[in-house]
Amino acid sequence: MGVLDVLLCCCCCLVLPCFAVEAQTAQLIVDASQASGRPISPTLFGLFFEEINHAGAGGLWAELVNNRGFEAGGPNTPSNIDPWSIIGSESSLLVSTDRSSCFERNKVALRMEVLCDSQGANICPAGGVGIYNPGFWGMNVEKGKTYSVTLYVRSSGAINVSVSLTSSNGLQTLAAENIMASVSEVSNWTKFNVLLVAKGTNPSSRLQLTTARKGLIWFDQVSAMPLDTYKGHGFRKDLVDMLADMKPQFLRFPGGCFVEGEWLRNAFRWKETIGQWEERPGHFGDVWMYWTDDGLGYFEFLQLAEDLGTRPIWVFNNGISHNDQVDTSNILPFVQEALDGIEFATGSPDSTWGSIRAAMGHPEPFDLRYVAVGNEDCGKKNYRGNYLKFYSAIKHAYPDIQIISNCDGSSHPLDHPADLYDFHVYTSASNMFSMAHQFDRTPRKGPKAFVSEYAVTGKDAGGGSLLAALAEAGFLIGLEKNSDVVEMASYAPLFVNANNKRWSPDAIVFNSSQLYGTPSYWVQCFFSESSGATIFNATLQTESSTSLLASAILWKSSEDQKTYLRIKIVNFGSNIVNLRIRVDGLEPNSVSMSGSTKTVLTSKNVMDENSFDEPKKVIPNLGLLENAGEEMDVGLSAHSFTSIDLLVEPSHLTTGADSSSISSS
Ligand SMILES: *[C@@H]1O[C@H](CO)[C@@H](O)[C@H](O)[C@H]1NC(C)=O
Ligand SMILES: *[C@@H]1O[C@H](CO)[C@@H](O)[C@H](O)[C@H]1NC(C)=O
Ligand SMILES: *[C@@H]1O[C@H](CO)[C@@H](O)[C@H](O)[C@H]1NC(C)=O
Ligand SMILES: *[C@@H]1O[C@H](CO)[C@@H](O)[C@H](O)[C@H]1NC(C)=O
Repeated sequence: MGVLDVLLCCCCCLVLPCFAVEAQTAQLIVDASQASGRPISPTLFGLFFEEINHAGAGGLWAELVNNRGFEAGGPNTPSNIDPWSIIGSESSLLVSTDRSSCFERNKVALRMEVLCDSQGANICPAGGVGIYNPGFWGMNVEKGKTYSVTLYVRSSGAINVSVSLTSSNGLQTLAAENIMASVSEVSNWTKFNVLLVAKGTNPSSRLQLTTARKGLIWFDQVSAMPLDTYKGHGFRKDLVDMLADMKPQFLRFPGGCFVEGEWLRNAFRWKETIGQWEERPGHFGDVWMYWTDDGLGYFEFLQLAEDLGTRPIWVFNNGISHNDQVDTSNILPFVQEALDGIEFATGSPDSTWGSIRAAMGHPEPFDLRYVAVGNEDCGKKNYRGNYLKFYSAIKHAYPDIQIISNCDGSSHPLDHPADLYDFHVYTSASNMFSMAHQFDRTPRKGPKAFVSEYAVTGKDAGGGSLLAALAEAGFLIGLEKNSDVVEMASYAPLFVNANNKRWSPDAIVFNSSQLYGTPSYWVQCFFSESSGATIFNATLQTESSTSLLASAILWKSSEDQKTYLRIKIVNFGSNIVNLRIRVDGLEPNSVSMSGSTKTVLTSKNVMDENSFDEPKKVIPNLGLLENAGEEMDVGLSAHSFTSIDLLVEPSHLTTGADSSSISSS
């Protein structure tokens, strides 16, 4: 809402009684002089990806087949093949599992005995019999796109198997190819690959393997991947694009509690997630309660960070889960596992683990510079003992790797060495807003804070409200100001598949074909230029200061190479505010009258959310700023977040800030 709108509203109020219209006034004084400028941490805002809510399996990882190796039902056979299902009846086929796979670490294979035939007494139904996989609540198949289906097959006779993508009831065929082979070709396990080009679109498709020929066939490791993925590396493009738009400075992965497990036997163990995808055993994540085939493994996370041009932060298991712990006297094998993981990421192609990375197609090391020893384990009995073993071994072998402790060092000093400490907060909106001052009094010496998980949760947040987002905006303004002690921050969780809402709210909501950002996602985008920018002193003068927070940064656009002064103001209150902004410390007329913009995030109701039906209900609205200048009046709607970008002529900057220190990179 612009100044004019505020005035109009106030005028109408003279005639009509309405509520919440009494505008407050406030003043913001920005000191844009060189003396006031301080650098913001170049790594301040980034991403935390956890395998929760099917964020990866059935989400960011573009694999369409769910339970591709038939391992999700456990190692004992016969086993549940869910979500695979049968096409046909007991009289036409018998489907079971056995342990005959050619892959040593995932022995379960599907055994299909076809009783019907294309001739004789038991004729197969039209379309044949077989199995289908519905993917993760439907496969998104799009017309004209190509899908690569890989499968391993063995048979006691010649085969003629149709591989097809169909609608959810099987009636509409979107693409199909036949696999035909003689008995000698398939008497042992044989890999087949077919490319299916879709001749139609359906967001809830399924993959079918069918035949009308009597015989015994085994299937294993059935994969269907779209060819069109982010940088060709297997990530769902529309979801990664939303991450790239945030210009993240780091990617923390793969959890979260996912790293710990309820029990250690179900924790994410990186060595089980690398190498050929067919050979990965997969595992049941017992915290968020679903199976992952681990196509999205340690290597793929490192690749994703590289593809986003950002720094990977690997969280590894430190021998502690939610319910069991390895004793410190026996932790060395886990320490070795972590060292091997660092070697896998950063070692030369000649090293033991670096050579495996090279064999996976990435001979150059990944730029891994940060590791976190566990997740939320500080209070656990063995944490400190185990941590110290990891710390000394890693610092000895890799002195440049930054190590993150689970213990909060913001209120009192840590009793162990660390480069950073983890800080997590999930709270109400009013608490989050007041936590803008959380780090004001943190000692300026010692390890830096990594706010690796923050979000407003509970009834204030619902499924992702404007209210939650505004409170987070206030908190992030506080982090910008305290970035000399807060080096990194990331919202959590990042993703939710709408069919598996284990945790709400989240930044990005999707199903097989649709997606939207919650208001919390959009708030983060307001901060994408902050990392590495210069922050100025900005002082608010108001009668009721509690509901306003503001910051001012100088940043340089990598798109137009121009320099902007960005002033962000959260109005957390229910009153309209007439804000007079004064920028001191610039030479006269250095703010360009054109090219300045104002972006506002607000909505009619503070509890408004986005949805698949209204994905853009609460999103930033960009407009030109007509009255740009060193002194100006700006109207702030109730419950709003406003970002003003003033185009500053570089010659008028008295800060002498060189472009490198204010680059938004
Ligand atoms: C900026 O603010 C800080 C903290 O409020 C203060 O210590 C410092 O002196 C201020 N700098 C200038 C140039 O006013
Ligand atoms: C293979 O099966 C398809 C049906 O999926 C059928 O149209 C085709 O004639 C079969 N080919 C042979 C050689 O049996
Ligand atoms: C079947 O193939 C596997 C490798 O996939 C091989 O180890 C095995 O010797 C083969 N068996 C026969 C009988 O050829
Ligand atoms: C995705 O969600 C929307 C909104 O709920 C729904 O209309 C659509 O059918 C869903 N898509 C699939 C494939 O389930």
